[in-house]
Amino acid sequence: MRRSNQFQTSLSSKVAVALSGLGLAGFVSFHMLGNLQVFEGPAALNGYAAFLREMPIVLWSARLGLLTVAVAHIALGIRLALQNRRARPVAYAVREYRVASMASRTMALTGSLLLLFIVFHILHLTVGLGDPSVHDQLDERGHRDVYGKVIQAFHNPFYVALYCAGQLVLGMHLSHAVSGSLQTLGVEHAALIRLFRAAGPAVALFVVMGNLAIIFAVFLGLVRP
Ligand code: HEM
Repeated sequence: MRRSNQFQTSLSSKVAVALSGLGLAGFVSFHMLGNLQVFEGPAALNGYAAFLREMPIVLWSARLGLLTVAVAHIALGIRLALQNRRARPVAYAVREYRVASMASRTMALTGSLLLLFIVFHILHLTVGLGDPSVHDQLDERGHRDVYGKVIQAFHNPFYVALYCAGQLVLGMHLSHAVSGSLQTLGVEHAALIRLFRAAGPAVALFVVMGNLAIIFAVFLGLVRP
């Protein structure tokens, strides 16, 4: 492939990774905000989960969309990481090359761990492999007892530790990813670059703090069955 074509392909992959990544960051933010309804009690959280399931076409379109975006993000992300690895350092740019390569390695590692966490999380809370007896229960309004599943999960120190580890990985990935994506899509301007750098850690802190609040509120008995 000619050098200019290679550059174009790599740039369009970078833009696609950035856009899909921002979409996924949007999903985790909305997911966290929806889950905060655990603080309002079983009726609110179970009603919200039932509302999402009452529209199967919307639900399955959203799931399919999310899966497509996630697969595209992972596949193009791996391709970019491999391209970065293959890139030869130019003598005067060795330091920049090392910094970029460290960041892309960290992203590949945290991204892979995050994928493992998401697979585990779906098997645990959506499929209900952890404790099938809780999975099929209904609340007094006849809604699936999602609230009960969350309470049961975070009473268990094993799940608390696993979810906290997941939050650490999520925070590291989001913090770098959101800033990097905004920089990829953004205009070169000193003020914006500062804003973009701050946006990643801010989004990461917002999502992780919200999720940790849910985990520890249940574990410490502040939110009860
Ligand atoms: C404390 C943190 C979290 C809680 C309490 C939580 C809670 C839940 C619950 C209860 C479900 C099942 C909903 C249902 O069966 O109707 C679910 C599904 C899901 N969660 Fe989470 N979640 C958390 C963090 C995360 C994170 C960090 C991610 C992604 C990085 C994530 C991604 C998903 C996905 C993809 C699903 C499947 C959605 C579907 O049914 O199609 N969750 N979560």
